[in-house]
Amino acid sequence: MPAATLHVNGLSSGYGRTVIVEDVSFSVPAGQRMAIIGRNGMGKTTLLSTLMGLTTHHAGTIAVEGAGVEKLSASRRAYAGLGYVPQTRDIFRTLTVEENLVSGLKGRAKTNLDEAYHLFPRLRERRRNLGWQLSGGEQQMLSTARALLGKPSVLLLDEPLEGLAPVICQELMAAFTELAKAGTTTILLVEQNLKTALAFAEEVLVMERGRIVWSGQSEALSSEPHLIDKFMGVAGVH
Ligand SMILES: Nc1ncnc2c1ncn2[C@@H]1O[C@H](COP(=O)(O)OP(=O)(O)OP(=O)(O)O)[C@@H](O)[C@H]1O
Ligand SMILES: [Mg+2]
Repeated sequence: MPAATLHVNGLSSGYGRTVIVEDVSFSVPAGQRMAIIGRNGMGKTTLLSTLMGLTTHHAGTIAVEGAGVEKLSASRRAYAGLGYVPQTRDIFRTLTVEENLVSGLKGRAKTNLDEAYHLFPRLRERRRNLGWQLSGGEQQMLSTARALLGKPSVLLLDEPLEGLAPVICQELMAAFTELAKAGTTTILLVEQNLKTALAFAEEVLVMERGRIVWSGQSEALSSEPHLIDKFMGVAGVH
């Protein structure tokens, strides 16, 4: 499956009756990189998990390459092309690294595990270890590698760099950029580090209290320090 367009229109969602994400609309063209930024608790994670079908959907549409997915279960959304690396790394703690990776293959041949081991040699070394025996950074690699093995046409990444060594962060961001440029994957990245977010993404959404309060090109935001200060506060001074 090649990279797909993502269209979100009038999306509202939350937890039970509580509404967190309110009237969110945006589009990401196929193969583009978009970042979502905003202070803690502003609804970034809720938005991504809503796209994946893991919250209470209140209103609005979500289309992957024109096909509405907002009524599908999370697993069916995965088969429709959505890949997700949640902020809470959802690896199987009692399975080995390799078993975790196999679960992400979605029917592709086991020889493809090499893609994951190539990106994260550390996972090859630890492939017989159980999920719970991994360090935080290794769990992070496993979660990301498993999502990539499913060859998602739209990849949702919730702070995928958290806990990883700087050199691995750079490699990973380069790998994500490559996937998008090759037309393999459209990427929506939630990232706290503003510099990283702006360097990676072509377009940016700023979230505040569940709403999009600014959207535009990364370059435009980079050249507006007062906006960065307004939206990110002290956290923006990276
Ligand atoms: N499972 C949940 N049940 C009820 N409320 C929740 C739940 N998860 C998050 N919330 C609330 O939703 C709001 C948005 O949280 P969310 O995790 O989406 O923010 P975020 O922008 O990802 O923050 P952070 O930068 O800290 O990861 C917060 O007020 C939070 O308390
Ligand atoms: Mg979050």
